[in-house]
Amino acid sequence: MTKQETFQLEFENHVKEGLSTFPKFLSSKYIYDDRGDELFQQIMALPEYYLTEAEFNIVDTYKSNLREVFNEHGAFDLIELGAGDGKKTKVLLKELVHNNVQFTYIPIDISQHAIDDLTMSLTSILPELEVQGEQGTYFKVLERLATYNKRPKVIIVLGSNIGNLEHPQAINFLKKIKEVMSHNDLLFMGFDQKKNPLTIQNAYADSKGVTQEFNRNLLHRINKEMNADFPVDSFEHWESYDPETGTAKSFLIATEPCEVEIKKLGFKTTFKKWETIHCEISQKYDDETVEWLANQSGLEIEKIYEDQQKLFKDYLFKVLK
Ligand SMILES: C[S@@+](CC[C@H](N)C(=O)[O-])C[C@H]1O[C@@H](n2cnc3c(N)ncnc32)[C@H](O)[C@@H]1O
Repeated sequence: MTKQETFQLEFENHVKEGLSTFPKFLSSKYIYDDRGDELFQQIMALPEYYLTEAEFNIVDTYKSNLREVFNEHGAFDLIELGAGDGKKTKVLLKELVHNNVQFTYIPIDISQHAIDDLTMSLTSILPELEVQGEQGTYFKVLERLATYNKRPKVIIVLGSNIGNLEHPQAINFLKKIKEVMSHNDLLFMGFDQKKNPLTIQNAYADSKGVTQEFNRNLLHRINKEMNADFPVDSFEHWESYDPETGTAKSFLIATEPCEVEIKKLGFKTTFKKWETIHCEISQKYDDETVEWLANQSGLEIEKIYEDQQKLFKDYLFKVLK
């Protein structure tokens, strides 16, 4: 079975499981096809979506410090999990390349389209950079990286991707990363911070409705790839942020009762009016929670980087001694 066929089978099994249970769920990781990538780029450009600019500010402000820290043990592999369009990473890559640092950039993403676009754009803006992009899910790729111990590794995860995982899954994710790290390896990871709940709520419920289109792309994808008949316009996006737990949740809600047939899966499901599909969580953090996650996973925080507006933090981790 090819990688693409395996991925498609996982997607189909996930859809069957998520839509035959109550309450229904679908994972946001399947939003990212060509259209999903494009919509996420539009989200990043929204004034309400403060995360991108805040983390861009961190990378830009501390790029020379990061160059020194990453390069401390000589030539290394820079592995990025969930690289997307690499908007912020490019700032770092330019800093490394222009200072003749010896490294290979290995971007990993579930979206083949994201990897292709990123590789092509890097070839044109940084032709001297060595890029080895790979399509795959975090966990699958991490398993393979365990056998990959030739040079020091710097693993980066930007954009608060970890926030899409509940705490037990996040610990599992960090543990998996820790298992592939040696003592000189580093993990540099973004964690969006708790803040005014309205700022968070607005970031995921933008006035232009781009986030709604982004989430609806999951249903468009199922219609297209599994020969289904979701009445996509009858599903509205709803965001709710709980300041106590720091969890933002996004839902698609059926505004009409409907029956959906997914022909490729030989499967039918019904929706009552106002029934939900839970699509995504975006967890918000504080230092204590990140420290707890790190300790649970066998990691320790080396350094914390924060943007000027104090909205977002990137943490540098090492394996706990
Ligand atoms: C929120 S975007 C962030 C992109 C980028 N890191 C940034 O900060 O701009 C999440 C990215 O991770 C990818 N992604 C989501 N779930 C993934 C998974 N389980 N494995 C690999 N990539 C994943 C998506 O395709 C998307 O490009």
